[in-house]
Amino acid sequence: MSGEPPAKKQRPAGQISQDKENDEQLNRIADYDLKMAELYNGVANDSLAHKHCMGYNLKKAIGDVKGQVCIEAACGNGAYMQFLHDKGASFVLGTDLSAENLAVCRTNHKASGVPADAMDYFQSDLGEVQAYKGGPFDLAVMGCCICYCSNQDMLLSWLKNMYKNLKPGGRLVCMNTRGALPDAEQEELFIKFKIRYLKEAPGGSKSFSPAFVRFHNGWQTDYIFLEADTIHKAMVETGFKVERVPLVGDPDYNGKEDLARLVQLMPYDLFVATK
Ligand SMILES: C[S@@+](CC[C@H](N)C(=O)[O-])C[C@H]1O[C@@H](n2cnc3c(N)ncnc32)[C@H](O)[C@@H]1O
Repeated sequence: MSGEPPAKKQRPAGQISQDKENDEQLNRIADYDLKMAELYNGVANDSLAHKHCMGYNLKKAIGDVKGQVCIEAACGNGAYMQFLHDKGASFVLGTDLSAENLAVCRTNHKASGVPADAMDYFQSDLGEVQAYKGGPFDLAVMGCCICYCSNQDMLLSWLKNMYKNLKPGGRLVCMNTRGALPDAEQEELFIKFKIRYLKEAPGGSKSFSPAFVRFHNGWQTDYIFLEADTIHKAMVETGFKVERVPLVGDPDYNGKEDLARLVQLMPYDLFVATK
């Protein structure tokens, strides 16, 4: 099987629609149209990588949120909003560029009985620095979204936005996916776990080069490769104090798949940044 993903005709990663005529504008980000929003919901809820690696580590780093006011930036299907609510957060705001993803969030949260005043949703581009309704926040969560920053200015705007919206002492918990892997790791990940990333450029991919992922159920996205140091330095430049957190496998996983190897292969970097 070739290491290259099939060519897709979609809006390039990081390039978004500026048409904001309606309150919530559909298709502002092409990788999360109605079909892809549903497929992402399946990946976030059911995949080994999200549940027992990415999700497990993100939740562990989030820690105690009892009584806290929280924001999930680029909230996707709202799984971490739900987690924050279940763990006792007093209010959770979810922002995302995709109206389709926000619709999935609303459906999921309604189905699980979240009271209407415990959460809110706001469609916006994270690059537009603004004070969000409900803030300032004790905690901001960014799960696998900073990889949509296609240049340094955009990366700094996203981080400045989070910094502005946090209380002094507030924390940003940020998980990045480096969406390209060396050839051998990429093949192994595909054979064992049916996850396909872009093959890294010779000598290793550099920050702001293209990235791509496709999961077992057909959810796929184009995005941006970011080296961990690029994110770390940008966080420091924004004013954050930064801790890098190594990833571990979920000790409660008792399935048959090789979780320990998955944790080694998945190109995740986890940061806890404090204002
Ligand atoms: C891979 S999903 C991650 C969703 C969720 N945070 C999680 O960890 O499951 C990436 C999310 O980033 C959102 N996104 C991409 N570019 C964005 C932007 N410029 N502003 C706001 N959200 C954006 C997408 O719509 C999508 O919901």
